Amino acid sequence: KKSWVLMVTAQTPTNIAVIKYWGKRDESLILPINDSISVTLDPSHLCTTTTVAVSPGFTHDRMWLNGKEISLSGGRYQNCLREIRSRASDVEDEKKGIKIAKKDWENLHLHIASYNNFPTAAGLASSAAGFACLVYSLAKLMNVKEDNSQLSAIARQGSGSACRSLYGGFVKWIMGKDDNGSDSIAVQLVDEKHWDELVILIAVVSSRQKETSSTSGMRETVETSPLVLHRAKEVVPKRVVEMEEAIKSRNFPAFARLTCSDSNQFHAVCLDTSPPIFYMNDTSHRQAIWIISCVEKWNRSEGTPQVAYTFDAGPNAVLIARNRKVAALLLQRLLFHFPPQSDADLNSYIVGDKSVLM
Ligand code: PMV
Repeated sequence: KKSWVLMVTAQTPTNIAVIKYWGKRDESLILPINDSISVTLDPSHLCTTTTVAVSPGFTHDRMWLNGKEISLSGGRYQNCLREIRSRASDVEDEKKGIKIAKKDWENLHLHIASYNNFPTAAGLASSAAGFACLVYSLAKLMNVKEDNSQLSAIARQGSGSACRSLYGGFVKWIMGKDDNGSDSIAVQLVDEKHWDELVILIAVVSSRQKETSSTSGMRETVETSPLVLHRAKEVVPKRVVEMEEAIKSRNFPAFARLTCSDSNQFHAVCLDTSPPIFYMNDTSHRQAIWIISCVEKWNRSEGTPQVAYTFDAGPNAVLIARNRKVAALLLQRLLFHFPPQSDADLNSYIVGDKSVLM
Protein backbone atom coordinates (compact mmCIF):
# COMPACT_ATOMS: atom_id res chain seq x y z
CA LYS A 1 0.00 0.00 0.00
CA LYS A 2 1.37 3.41 -1.00
CA SER A 3 2.27 5.65 1.92
CA TRP A 4 1.36 9.31 2.02
CA VAL A 5 1.46 12.39 4.26
CA LEU A 6 -1.20 15.07 4.38
CA MET A 7 -0.23 18.41 5.95
CA VAL A 8 -1.74 21.73 6.95
CA THR A 9 0.11 24.81 8.20
CA ALA A 10 -1.55 27.67 10.06
CA GLN A 11 -0.40 30.83 11.78
CA THR A 12 -2.10 32.37 14.80
CA PRO A 13 -1.23 35.58 16.62
CA THR A 14 -1.29 36.00 20.36
CA ASN A 15 -3.78 38.24 22.14
CA ILE A 16 -3.46 40.71 24.98
CA ALA A 17 -6.29 41.03 27.49
CA VAL A 18 -7.56 44.52 28.26
CA ILE A 19 -10.10 43.08 30.72
CA LYS A 20 -8.26 40.19 32.34
CA TYR A 21 -9.24 36.60 32.91
CA TRP A 22 -7.95 35.46 36.29
CA GLY A 23 -9.59 32.58 38.15
CA LYS A 24 -11.33 29.38 37.09
CA ARG A 25 -14.58 27.91 38.34
CA ASP A 26 -13.73 24.57 36.72
CA GLU A 27 -10.08 23.64 36.31
CA SER A 28 -10.32 20.69 33.97
CA LEU A 29 -12.75 22.29 31.50
CA ILE A 30 -11.11 25.71 32.03
CA LEU A 31 -14.22 27.73 32.81
CA PRO A 32 -13.50 31.25 34.06
CA ILE A 33 -15.08 33.24 36.89
CA ASN A 34 -15.55 36.32 34.70
CA ASP A 35 -15.83 37.46 31.08
CA SER A 36 -12.68 38.92 29.52
CA ILE A 37 -11.86 41.09 26.49
CA SER A 38 -8.67 41.11 24.44
CA VAL A 39 -7.08 42.51 21.34
CA THR A 40 -5.48 40.11 18.89
CA LEU A 41 -2.11 41.24 17.58
CA ASP A 42 -1.13 41.43 13.95
CA PRO A 43 0.05 38.01 12.69
CA SER A 44 3.40 39.42 11.58
CA HIS A 45 4.49 39.74 15.24
CA LEU A 46 4.17 37.41 18.20
CA CYS A 47 2.63 34.46 16.49
CA THR A 48 2.75 30.69 16.44
CA THR A 49 3.15 28.72 13.24
CA THR A 50 2.00 25.13 13.42
CA THR A 51 2.19 22.35 10.87
CA VAL A 52 0.10 19.27 11.48
CA ALA A 53 0.60 16.10 9.47
CA VAL A 54 -1.17 12.77 9.25
CA SER A 55 0.16 9.60 7.68
CA PRO A 56 -0.60 5.88 7.94
CA GLY A 57 3.16 5.54 8.57
CA PHE A 58 2.99 7.41 11.91
CA THR A 59 2.87 5.07 14.88
CA HIS A 60 1.81 7.53 17.58
CA ASP A 61 0.91 11.20 18.10
CA ARG A 62 4.04 13.36 18.49
CA MET A 63 4.71 17.06 18.90
CA TRP A 64 7.75 19.34 18.62
CA LEU A 65 7.75 22.84 20.12
CA ASN A 66 10.45 25.14 18.78
CA GLY A 67 12.28 22.08 17.44
CA LYS A 68 12.24 20.11 20.68
CA GLU A 69 9.98 17.12 21.17
CA ILE A 70 7.46 17.58 23.97
CA SER A 71 5.05 15.17 25.58
CA LEU A 72 1.43 15.14 24.48
CA SER A 73 0.31 13.14 27.49
CA GLY A 74 -0.92 16.17 29.47
CA GLY A 75 -4.68 16.54 29.93
CA ARG A 76 -4.82 19.78 28.01
CA TYR A 77 -3.34 18.36 24.82
CA GLN A 78 -5.36 15.19 25.18
CA ASN A 79 -8.62 17.13 25.61
CA CYS A 80 -7.97 19.20 22.49
CA LEU A 81 -6.96 16.18 20.39
CA ARG A 82 -9.96 14.15 21.55
CA GLU A 83 -12.45 16.96 20.93
CA ILE A 84 -11.11 17.68 17.45
CA ARG A 85 -10.91 14.00 16.46
CA SER A 86 -14.51 13.45 17.51
CA ARG A 87 -15.60 16.16 15.05
CA ALA A 88 -13.49 15.04 12.08
CA SER A 89 -15.15 14.48 8.69
CA ASP A 90 -14.24 12.67 5.48
CA VAL A 91 -11.21 14.12 3.69
CA GLU A 92 -10.33 13.59 0.06
CA ASP A 93 -7.28 14.78 -1.83
CA GLU A 94 -7.83 13.71 -5.42
CA LYS A 95 -4.44 14.83 -6.71
CA LYS A 96 -2.61 12.72 -4.16
CA GLY A 97 -5.17 9.95 -4.32
CA ILE A 98 -5.82 10.17 -0.57
CA LYS A 99 -9.16 9.31 0.97
CA ILE A 100 -9.69 9.41 4.72
CA ALA A 101 -13.10 8.37 6.03
CA LYS A 102 -14.50 9.97 9.16
CA LYS A 103 -14.04 6.78 11.17
CA ASP A 104 -10.36 6.41 10.09
CA TRP A 105 -9.29 9.46 12.11
CA GLU A 106 -9.56 7.49 15.35
CA ASN A 107 -6.73 5.18 14.21
CA LEU A 108 -4.50 7.63 12.35
CA HIS A 109 -1.67 9.37 14.18
CA LEU A 110 -0.47 12.94 13.98
CA HIS A 111 2.85 14.76 13.91
CA ILE A 112 2.69 18.37 15.06
CA ALA A 113 5.47 20.96 14.73
CA SER A 114 4.95 24.34 16.34
CA TYR A 115 7.15 27.46 16.45
CA ASN A 116 6.76 30.65 18.45
CA ASN A 117 8.52 33.70 17.06
CA PHE A 118 8.68 35.15 20.61
CA PRO A 119 9.68 34.00 24.13
CA THR A 120 7.66 31.04 25.37
CA ALA A 121 5.94 31.24 28.80
CA ALA A 122 7.26 34.70 29.65
CA GLY A 123 3.84 36.19 30.14
CA LEU A 124 3.40 36.99 26.47
CA ALA A 125 0.54 34.55 26.09
CA SER A 126 2.51 32.01 24.09
CA SER A 127 0.03 29.33 25.13
CA ALA A 128 -2.81 31.44 23.73
CA ALA A 129 -1.34 31.54 20.24
CA GLY A 130 -0.10 27.95 20.57
CA PHE A 131 -3.35 26.20 21.46
CA ALA A 132 -5.43 28.38 19.14
CA CYS A 133 -3.11 27.45 16.27
CA LEU A 134 -3.07 23.77 17.21
CA VAL A 135 -6.86 23.53 17.28
CA TYR A 136 -7.29 25.58 14.12
CA SER A 137 -4.74 23.64 12.05
CA LEU A 138 -6.10 20.27 13.23
CA ALA A 139 -9.64 21.40 12.43
CA LYS A 140 -8.53 22.26 8.89
CA LEU A 141 -6.63 18.99 8.45
CA MET A 142 -9.57 16.90 9.67
CA ASN A 143 -12.19 18.92 7.81
CA VAL A 144 -14.02 19.88 11.00
CA LYS A 145 -17.12 21.84 10.04
CA GLU A 146 -17.55 23.87 13.26
CA ASP A 147 -17.21 27.68 13.17
CA ASN A 148 -14.52 29.60 15.05
CA SER A 149 -16.69 30.16 18.12
CA GLN A 150 -17.25 26.43 18.48
CA LEU A 151 -13.54 25.83 17.90
CA SER A 152 -12.81 28.43 20.58
CA ALA A 153 -14.50 26.17 23.16
CA ILE A 154 -11.96 23.48 22.25
CA ALA A 155 -8.94 25.82 22.27
CA ARG A 156 -10.15 27.02 25.68
CA GLN A 157 -9.50 23.54 27.07
CA GLY A 158 -5.85 23.88 26.07
CA SER A 159 -5.35 27.32 27.59
CA GLY A 160 -8.15 29.67 28.60
CA SER A 161 -6.82 32.73 26.80
CA ALA A 162 -6.33 30.65 23.62
CA CYS A 163 -10.04 30.80 22.87
CA ARG A 164 -9.69 34.54 22.17
CA SER A 165 -6.96 34.03 19.53
CA LEU A 166 -9.30 32.41 17.00
CA TYR A 167 -10.48 35.86 15.95
CA GLY A 168 -8.71 39.06 14.97
CA GLY A 169 -9.65 42.50 16.27
CA PHE A 170 -11.26 42.81 19.69
CA VAL A 171 -12.62 39.60 21.15
CA LYS A 172 -14.78 38.77 24.15
CA TRP A 173 -14.60 35.47 25.99
CA ILE A 174 -18.06 34.91 27.41
CA MET A 175 -17.71 32.98 30.67
CA GLY A 176 -20.91 31.02 30.04
CA LYS A 177 -23.29 29.37 32.49
CA ASP A 178 -23.30 25.68 31.55
CA ASP A 179 -21.34 23.21 33.63
CA ASN A 180 -20.16 21.42 30.49
CA GLY A 181 -18.57 24.58 29.04
CA SER A 182 -20.47 24.55 25.76
CA ASP A 183 -21.39 28.25 26.15
CA SER A 184 -17.96 29.38 27.38
CA ILE A 185 -16.84 30.66 23.98
CA ALA A 186 -15.12 33.58 22.27
CA VAL A 187 -16.95 36.02 20.03
CA GLN A 188 -15.55 38.81 17.89
CA LEU A 189 -16.64 42.27 19.03
CA VAL A 190 -15.12 44.19 16.12
CA ASP A 191 -12.66 43.13 13.42
CA GLU A 192 -9.07 44.31 13.02
CA LYS A 193 -10.01 47.17 10.68
CA HIS A 194 -12.44 48.79 13.10
CA TRP A 195 -9.82 50.62 15.21
CA ASP A 196 -6.69 50.50 13.11
CA GLU A 197 -5.20 53.77 14.40
CA LEU A 198 -4.23 51.97 17.60
CA VAL A 199 -0.59 50.94 17.85
CA ILE A 200 0.50 48.29 20.31
CA LEU A 201 4.06 48.33 21.63
CA ILE A 202 5.43 45.51 23.72
CA ALA A 203 8.49 46.25 25.81
CA VAL A 204 10.12 42.88 26.34
CA VAL A 205 11.72 43.54 29.71
CA SER A 206 12.62 39.93 30.25
CA SER A 207 12.12 36.78 28.24
CA ARG A 208 12.86 34.57 31.23
CA GLN A 209 10.17 32.01 31.96
CA LYS A 210 7.79 33.09 34.70
CA GLU A 211 8.05 31.43 38.10
CA THR A 212 4.36 31.05 38.92
CA SER A 213 2.31 29.41 36.17
CA SER A 214 -1.04 31.02 35.52
CA THR A 215 -2.77 27.76 36.49
CA SER A 216 -1.32 27.56 40.00
CA GLY A 217 -1.48 31.34 40.39
CA MET A 218 -5.19 31.40 39.58
CA ARG A 219 -5.88 28.46 41.86
CA GLU A 220 -4.12 30.15 44.80
CA THR A 221 -5.90 33.43 44.12
CA VAL A 222 -9.36 31.83 43.96
CA GLU A 223 -8.65 29.86 47.17
CA THR A 224 -7.23 32.71 49.23
CA SER A 225 -8.03 36.19 47.89
CA PRO A 226 -11.12 37.92 49.32
CA LEU A 227 -10.73 40.60 46.64
CA VAL A 228 -11.05 38.29 43.63
CA LEU A 229 -14.72 37.47 44.23
CA HIS A 230 -15.56 41.14 44.52
CA ARG A 231 -13.66 41.71 41.27
CA ALA A 232 -15.44 38.90 39.41
CA LYS A 233 -18.93 39.70 40.69
CA GLU A 234 -18.99 43.48 41.12
CA VAL A 235 -16.23 45.04 39.06
CA VAL A 236 -15.67 43.08 35.86
CA PRO A 237 -19.31 42.80 34.70
CA LYS A 238 -19.62 46.60 34.66
CA ARG A 239 -16.21 47.06 33.09
CA VAL A 240 -17.00 44.60 30.31
CA VAL A 241 -20.10 46.59 29.33
CA GLU A 242 -18.17 49.87 29.42
CA MET A 243 -15.24 48.38 27.53
CA GLU A 244 -17.46 47.03 24.75
CA GLU A 245 -19.00 50.47 24.42
CA ALA A 246 -15.58 52.18 24.38
CA ILE A 247 -14.32 49.79 21.68
CA LYS A 248 -17.40 50.10 19.50
CA SER A 249 -17.33 53.91 19.65
CA ARG A 250 -13.49 54.10 19.52
CA ASN A 251 -13.50 56.12 22.72
CA PHE A 252 -9.80 56.10 23.59
CA PRO A 253 -10.02 57.93 26.96
CA ALA A 254 -12.56 55.39 28.28
CA PHE A 255 -10.62 52.52 26.72
CA ALA A 256 -7.35 53.64 28.36
CA ARG A 257 -8.94 54.23 31.77
CA LEU A 258 -10.54 50.77 31.79
CA THR A 259 -7.45 48.98 30.44
CA CYS A 260 -5.07 50.50 33.01
CA SER A 261 -7.49 50.02 35.92
CA ASP A 262 -8.10 46.43 35.01
CA SER A 263 -4.40 45.63 34.73
CA ASN A 264 -3.81 47.25 38.11
CA GLN A 265 -6.66 45.34 39.72
CA PHE A 266 -5.40 42.06 38.28
CA HIS A 267 -2.02 42.70 39.96
CA ALA A 268 -3.80 43.79 43.15
CA VAL A 269 -5.62 40.46 43.21
CA CYS A 270 -2.28 38.68 42.76
CA LEU A 271 -0.90 40.63 45.73
CA ASP A 272 -4.04 39.79 47.70
CA THR A 273 -3.24 36.09 47.23
CA SER A 274 -1.66 34.24 50.11
CA PRO A 275 1.28 33.88 49.73
CA PRO A 276 1.31 36.92 47.40
CA ILE A 277 2.17 36.44 43.74
CA PHE A 278 4.72 38.80 42.20
CA TYR A 279 5.11 38.70 38.47
CA MET A 280 8.07 41.05 38.47
CA ASN A 281 11.66 40.93 39.59
CA ASP A 282 13.66 43.96 40.80
CA THR A 283 14.66 45.24 37.40
CA SER A 284 11.32 44.71 35.74
CA HIS A 285 9.50 46.21 38.70
CA ARG A 286 11.60 49.36 38.48
CA GLN A 287 10.95 49.58 34.75
CA ALA A 288 7.24 48.89 35.19
CA ILE A 289 6.92 51.64 37.78
CA TRP A 290 8.75 54.01 35.48
CA ILE A 291 6.53 53.09 32.53
CA ILE A 292 3.32 53.41 34.56
CA SER A 293 4.23 56.78 36.04
CA CYS A 294 5.45 58.06 32.67
CA VAL A 295 2.15 57.09 31.02
CA GLU A 296 0.04 58.45 33.89
CA LYS A 297 1.91 61.80 33.84
CA TRP A 298 1.77 62.03 30.07
CA ASN A 299 -1.97 61.33 30.00
CA ARG A 300 -2.63 63.92 32.70
CA SER A 301 -0.49 66.60 31.07
CA GLU A 302 -2.24 66.17 27.70
CA GLY A 303 -5.60 66.51 29.41
CA THR A 304 -6.83 63.39 27.65
CA PRO A 305 -5.28 59.89 27.64
CA GLN A 306 -2.80 59.15 24.85
CA VAL A 307 -1.46 55.78 25.98
CA ALA A 308 -2.81 52.79 27.90
CA TYR A 309 -0.65 50.22 29.67
CA THR A 310 -1.37 46.67 30.66
CA PHE A 311 0.77 43.94 32.27
CA ASP A 312 -0.02 40.24 32.12
CA ALA A 313 1.41 37.48 34.28
CA GLY A 314 4.94 38.59 33.50
CA PRO A 315 7.10 41.70 33.54
CA ASN A 316 6.63 42.77 29.93
CA ALA A 317 4.77 46.03 29.43
CA VAL A 318 2.13 46.26 26.74
CA LEU A 319 1.50 49.84 25.69
CA ILE A 320 -1.36 50.87 23.47
CA ALA A 321 -0.98 54.25 21.81
CA ARG A 322 -3.97 56.08 20.41
CA ASN A 323 -2.26 56.62 17.06
CA ARG A 324 1.05 56.33 15.20
CA LYS A 325 2.25 59.79 16.18
CA VAL A 326 1.86 59.02 19.87
CA ALA A 327 3.46 55.60 19.32
CA ALA A 328 6.52 57.17 17.71
CA LEU A 329 6.94 59.56 20.66
CA LEU A 330 6.43 56.74 23.11
CA LEU A 331 9.04 54.61 21.41
CA GLN A 332 11.54 57.49 21.55
CA ARG A 333 10.92 57.90 25.28
CA LEU A 334 11.26 54.21 25.95
CA LEU A 335 14.45 53.93 23.93
CA PHE A 336 15.88 57.01 25.63
CA HIS A 337 15.24 55.75 29.15
CA PHE A 338 15.91 52.08 28.51
CA PRO A 339 18.41 51.93 25.64
CA PRO A 340 18.69 48.43 24.19
CA GLN A 341 21.38 46.35 25.90
CA SER A 342 23.74 43.93 24.28
CA ASP A 343 21.68 41.20 25.89
CA ALA A 344 19.06 40.65 23.25
CA ASP A 345 16.57 39.71 25.95
CA LEU A 346 16.47 43.12 27.52
CA ASN A 347 14.67 46.17 26.27
CA SER A 348 13.74 45.03 22.86
CA TYR A 349 10.60 46.60 21.61
CA ILE A 350 8.13 44.76 19.52
CA VAL A 351 5.69 46.79 17.53
CA GLY A 352 2.57 44.73 17.60
CA ASP A 353 0.64 46.07 14.68
CA LYS A 354 0.90 46.65 10.98
CA SER A 355 2.85 49.90 11.20
CA VAL A 356 6.62 49.80 11.14
CA LEU A 357 8.06 52.37 13.47
CA MET A 358 11.60 51.23 13.98
O1 PMV B 1 -4.78 31.33 29.51
P1 PMV B 1 -3.74 31.39 30.58
O2 PMV B 1 -3.85 30.26 31.53
O3 PMV B 1 -2.36 31.56 30.02
O4 PMV B 1 -4.02 32.70 31.49
C1 PMV B 1 -3.90 34.01 31.01
C2 PMV B 1 -4.05 34.99 32.09
C3 PMV B 1 -3.71 36.44 31.76
O5 PMV B 1 -2.88 36.51 30.64
C4 PMV B 1 -2.99 37.07 32.93
C5 PMV B 1 -4.97 37.26 31.51
C6 PMV B 1 -5.70 37.04 30.21
O6 PMV B 1 -6.90 37.27 30.21
O7 PMV B 1 -5.07 36.71 29.20
